[in-house]
Amino acid sequence: MFPINRPRRLRQNEVIRRMVRETILTPDDFIYPVFVCEGAEVRKEISSMPGSYQESIDNLVENVREAHALGVPSVILFGIPDHKDAQGSEAYNDDGIVQRAIRAIKDAVPEMYVMTDVCLCEYTDHGHCGIISDGQILNDPTLELLAREAVSHAKAGADLVAPSDMMDGRVEAIREALDDEGYTDIPVMSYAAKYASAFYGPFREAAESTPQFGDRRSYQMDPANRIEAIKEVELDIMEGADIVMVKPALSYLDIISDIRETVDVPVAAYNVSGEYSMVKAAAQLDWVDGDRVMMEILTSIKRAGADLILTYHAKEAAKLLNG
Ligand code: PBG
Repeated sequence: MFPINRPRRLRQNEVIRRMVRETILTPDDFIYPVFVCEGAEVRKEISSMPGSYQESIDNLVENVREAHALGVPSVILFGIPDHKDAQGSEAYNDDGIVQRAIRAIKDAVPEMYVMTDVCLCEYTDHGHCGIISDGQILNDPTLELLAREAVSHAKAGADLVAPSDMMDGRVEAIREALDDEGYTDIPVMSYAAKYASAFYGPFREAAESTPQFGDRRSYQMDPANRIEAIKEVELDIMEGADIVMVKPALSYLDIISDIRETVDVPVAAYNVSGEYSMVKAAAQLDWVDGDRVMMEILTSIKRAGADLILTYHAKEAAKLLNG
C-alpha cells in the first residue's frame, strides 16, 4: 500500500519499461493476407483499404518478397478468379488463380510459409460460402467441394490450409481428404470462431465476395455469443484442427482470451479488413496517430492471448518493429 508501493517506480524510463514489458510483438507473429487476381502488372489499390491491393501474380511475388525481407514469415492467399459459377469450380481447379500463385511464390521465395484461405465465396456467382438449393446454403454437399479445394491447394505446394466457410464438419472432411491424398503433414488452421460481422465490409470489396442475396448469419456466429465459441473451437480440434482462429479480433478480445485459456493448440486471431480500414481512415483525417494505434491494437490482440495474428498491417508493423 502507498507510500510503500509505488508502481510508477517501474515506469521511470524506457529501459526499465522494456525490461518489465509483458507482451512483446515480433514480425514472427504475423500472417499477411494478400489478394491475387488474373492478368499481368496489375496492382489495383482497394479503395477502402489503403495500402492493400489486388495484384496479379508477378506483382504479388514482389510483394511477398518484400514481406519476407521484412521478416514476415507467412502469407495467406485469397483468390479473385475471372470466372465464377454456382459451384465455385475455380476454387478446386488445379490451374486456378490461387494454385498458380502458390507455385509462383514457392518458386521465387521458397522459405515463405504459404497458407491458403479455403472457401467458396470468392468463386461462387452468388457469393455464399456453400452451394445453394432453394435459397438455402447446403452444409453436407459443400464439404466435398471444400475438401477438393484444400487438396488442390496442397498439391500446388501450400504449406497450410485454412477453411473459413463455417460449414459444420469441414475440418474432418478436409483432414480426411488430405490424408487420403498423402498430405498427412499439411496442417489445418480453422476459422473456428468466425462471427457474422460488419467488419468484413472492405474485404468483400477486395475479394469481390459480397453475397448476392441474404447474409451469412445462417452459418457464421452470432456476435452476441461467447460460450458457443468454445464449442466451435472444441469441435474443430476434435475434427483435427491444428490451429484455431478467432475472427474478427478487436471486438472479440474476450473470445481470444477465453479460447487461449481453454485449449492446448495455438490460437490465431484475424485483425480483419474493417479494423484495418478504420485505423487508416482516422489516420488520414489526422484524428489519431495511425502507427501508434496500429501497434496498440496488434499488441492488445497478442496480450489477449493470440499466438498468431493475421493482419493487413503486417509489412508496416514489421518495418516499425525492425526499427
Ligand atoms: C471468406 C472470408 C471472409 C474473410 C476472410 N475469409 C469474408 C466473409 O466471411 O465474408 C474476411 C476477412 C476480412 O474482413 O479481412 N469466407
